[in-house]
Amino acid sequence: MELKIPKPVEIKSAKELEKMRAAGRLAAQLLQYIEPFVQPGVSTQELDDLCARWTKAHGAVSAPLGYHGYPKHTCTSVNHVVCHGIPNKKQLLKEGDIINIDVTPILDGWYGDSSKTFCVGQVTAEAQRLVETTHGCMMLGIAEVKPNARVGDIGAAIQAHAEAAGFSVVRDFVGHGIGRTFHTEPWVPHFGVRGKGTRLRPGMVFTIEPMINVGGWETVVLPDKWTAVTKDGSLSAQFEHTVAVTEDGVEILTLLD
Ligand code: MF3
Ligand code: CO
Ligand code: CO
Repeated sequence: MELKIPKPVEIKSAKELEKMRAAGRLAAQLLQYIEPFVQPGVSTQELDDLCARWTKAHGAVSAPLGYHGYPKHTCTSVNHVVCHGIPNKKQLLKEGDIINIDVTPILDGWYGDSSKTFCVGQVTAEAQRLVETTHGCMMLGIAEVKPNARVGDIGAAIQAHAEAAGFSVVRDFVGHGIGRTFHTEPWVPHFGVRGKGTRLRPGMVFTIEPMINVGGWETVVLPDKWTAVTKDGSLSAQFEHTVAVTEDGVEILTLLD
């Protein structure tokens, strides 16, 4: 018999939250820095190099590099790539692509995790609708976060919005607690049932990072052991923020004002 005792979710102190705010702000600034370089003709390797240099210049370390053997500083997921796309110098962006850039600087030991999907030049109306819907999914998930809400409330809100648009929610990758560790409890599915799951408490910090597909939700990991793609080859988009539960709601740690 297996006894399932869930590990308690770490509660951050005010001092610790201040550290996480600084790491989160850095992640947001890094995404802001890289945006103008996302143009037709740039390679995903060049984008990774720029992020690597910027991160170092700001006194931080890239969490992905060396994480379970991951080889680069960022993840760059283009079109049907769901997540964990590996930057490479042969992959040049072209007009009409969508690309998620996922960054996680570690500042003073604390992790800030955020990602955005960018459109390369003019994209199709469907790609545009996918990107906008996915951003909406993330924001609606964040809007559920407050003391005594449940993790399932977040997933239910995201799933309802994605499916109302005719899209599907990826099941194989979820949001996660974060702090001095990259990935920890609570696990935050982007689908689910309202009223179910871990109860949220002030001081919990986790990511909300829905991956939404135009077609089915199934994913396949390529032989490189990282790159996750949609099984049916359909387009996929993602946005990610790191959020903290406050006394009266939520604070987005990876948002610039
Ligand atoms: N930043 C990703 C996340 O949102 C994790 C990337 S792990 C890596 O959780 F090893 F692929 F970089
Ligand atoms: Co994350
Ligand atoms: Co991330």
